[in-house]
This record gives sequence, C-alpha cells and structure tokens, in this order.
Amino acid sequence: MLADRVNEICASPTMMVAAEAKKLKSEGVDVIDLSMGEPDFHTPHNIKDAGINAIEENRTRYTLNQGTNELRIAISAKLKRDNNLDYNLNEIIVSSGAKQSVYNSILATVNPGDEVIIPAPYWVSYPAMVSLAGGKTVVVDTDEKTCFKINPEQLLSVITSKTKMLILCNPSNPTGSAYSKKELEAIAEIVLKNNFYVLVDEIYEKLVYDDFEFTSFASIDPELKKKTILVNGISKSYAMTGWRIGYTAAPENVVNAINKIQSHTTSHASSISQHAAIEAVAGPQYVISEMLEEFRNRREYFYHELTSIKGITCYKPEGAFYLFPNISNYLHTKSNILKVENSFDFAMHLLYEAHIAVVPGSAFGKEGYLRLSYATSMEHLHEAIFRLKKALNKIQ
Ligand SMILES: Cc1ncc(COP(=O)(O)O)c(C=O)c1O
Repeated sequence: MLADRVNEICASPTMMVAAEAKKLKSEGVDVIDLSMGEPDFHTPHNIKDAGINAIEENRTRYTLNQGTNELRIAISAKLKRDNNLDYNLNEIIVSSGAKQSVYNSILATVNPGDEVIIPAPYWVSYPAMVSLAGGKTVVVDTDEKTCFKINPEQLLSVITSKTKMLILCNPSNPTGSAYSKKELEAIAEIVLKNNFYVLVDEIYEKLVYDDFEFTSFASIDPELKKKTILVNGISKSYAMTGWRIGYTAAPENVVNAINKIQSHTTSHASSISQHAAIEAVAGPQYVISEMLEEFRNRREYFYHELTSIKGITCYKPEGAFYLFPNISNYLHTKSNILKVENSFDFAMHLLYEAHIAVVPGSAFGKEGYLRLSYATSMEHLHEAIFRLKKALNKIQ
C-alpha cells in the first residue's frame, strides 16, 4: 500500500549507525560517537537569549511564509558582508533547516527524468531528494588523488540535454574538501556555456582551516548568479542544529516556486528560531572563531594520529569537521567477530569491538572509506584513537 517513491530511497545510513550506537548506549555501553554531523558545542548565549526574548515578546504567531523581513534583511546583509553578493529580499527564502532548503530547491526545479550531476562521495540526502522529485542522479566518482573534487573534464563528460542541475557541496560533507576560487572558476566556465542550475550547498562555509579562503560560487560572475541556487544555514556554524533554520538565495522565479511549495507543505520556519537566527547572522561573529579554533586543534590531532596508523591514508581536508580515511587495506579480511568485506562490515567491527560509531563510506557512494566526525571532545578523540588501534589489531 506504500507509494513507489518510498521504495526508491533508503533510510539515512548516518541515522542507522547512530540508532545502533544509541541502542548500545542505552544498554550501558560506553560508545564514542563519531558518526554525527553536528557541533558538540552549545548554542552561544546571545543567540539563546534572542530565542528566549522571542517567546517573552510573544513572537509566537505565523510569520511570512518565506521568513520574516527582519531575518531576510539580515541574511541579505550577511551575503553582502561575507560573500560580496547582492540579493534582495525577493531572492531569499528561509526554510526549516538547510535540508529543507535543498529539498525544496530540487522540487522547484527538477522534472521527472531530468538528470542531476552529483560528485561522489556525496551528502547522503542529495540522491534521495533527487529521486523523490522523480529526477535521475548522475554520479561522478572522485577520490583523494583529485582531492575529492570534480574536475572540468569529468563534468563535461556527463553533461547531456537532460542535465538540469549540478550539486556542489563546498566544503564537502563527507570529505571536508573545499574548492579554491580557481577550481570554481574552471567549473563556472562550463556552467556558463550550458543550460543548467548549480545548487551550491555552502553550509560549512565558516568551517575552513589553514588560511583557506572560501569563495561563494555565485560571486564568481554576475551571469553565474542567475544559474546558482545558493543554500546555507546556521546549524553548523552557530551550533544550532536543533533550531532548524536554513535559507536559499536564488533568482526570484526559483524563490517564488520554492515559496509556493513551502506554503502548501510546512509553511514558514519556527518564528522563535527565526528571531534567534537574526542574532546569529547579524550579531557578534567571534563565537564562530572560538569554535573554529577548537575544531582546528582536534583536526590536527586526529589527522596526525589517524595517518600514523599503518595501512590508513587520509586526505587532509580544508574544511567541515570530518575526516574521510581510506581503509581499503583492511578490507577482504576477517576480524575476531566478522568477515570484513566492505566499509559497512568495518564500521560494524569498530562499533561492536571498539564501541566507536562511524559511518561507512558506502553511505556516501564511496566504498573503502569511513567518515569520522571530530565534532566531539579531545578526550573522546584520544580514547577513540586508542580503541581504534586495538580493534585494528584484531583484523587479519
Ligand atoms: C552538506 C549538508 N547540507 C545540509 C545539511 C542540513 O543542515 P540543516 O541541519 O540546516 O538541515 C547538512 C547536515 O548534516 C549537511 O551536512
């Protein structure tokens, strides 16, 4: 009795690993969770206060479907301040999390049969969303030799008359790799000569390291902006995953289409969260630097320890809070508890033997890898490395 579209997608594997880890935890097992994609910090005080004030001031009624004017003014100013982009209020729509922003953008533009190019490894939800819209995902494989980035030749080789969209996640979940301005320009050159949208998911924009300079794709060329659907949000940069605020900046007709969809499905994002989001986007930004400093230290430590383990190699990412090590040397082996044929088996070995929860690369369309999140305390990372080494000794 279920709709066919449900059979086309599977439950988010990230959630599946997290659920198994939670089950073990509820049984009293001390699991170190490196599977989740959220900062372990609390939402900064000034932002929490803005949320509390919103309740006290009775900002608890319906707002404009596309988000309050105040919030969209703050987002427009942020896009100018950080990205040198000019978007007016009619070109911005706020949704309940960047996940909804991505989904609504796809629903608004992708027809059944349209092709959407997605470089792998990809964020797990992109292909599922394309499938729900009736579109066809065209996967382009990348690896650490090309820093997990799609190059112009690869892009050219998959463009057809049915191509409707390219999705770029920059910096990337799961690999943390980020495109330089030059690399984006090379992609932009192709996009400008063709007729499709580029959905850029820039939710990890603020989390970049080692003097890497983030460039927002739409800022490269005014013509490019007309083809760009820019998604961003506050979940990762301001430790606000539970507040559910994301936004899309795009040509007005795309925003109007998203607005229509949103008006008949979820309506606007929470009025209270929208008010807090103004403080996040327009308020003091030093909170980001504090978190970034901590992420930087963890990344250095974790990367160094991980790559000193025999048989494991890893691309040193420019951004986000993930490492995506290559563990293929440990595949087609067996451990004391199971056969280790693929990254899922490897993840299960780590969960049951070492009580570390990680996400197998296969979940992101890339076998032979794992995604490890370092959005957890240094103490947990120390312990995770200790347990990981012990668990690897049990694989032959
Ligand atoms: C690449 C990417 N885009 C979008 C999202 C969704 O973020 P939000 O919590 O704002 O829905 C995530 C969250 O994991 C993500 O990793």
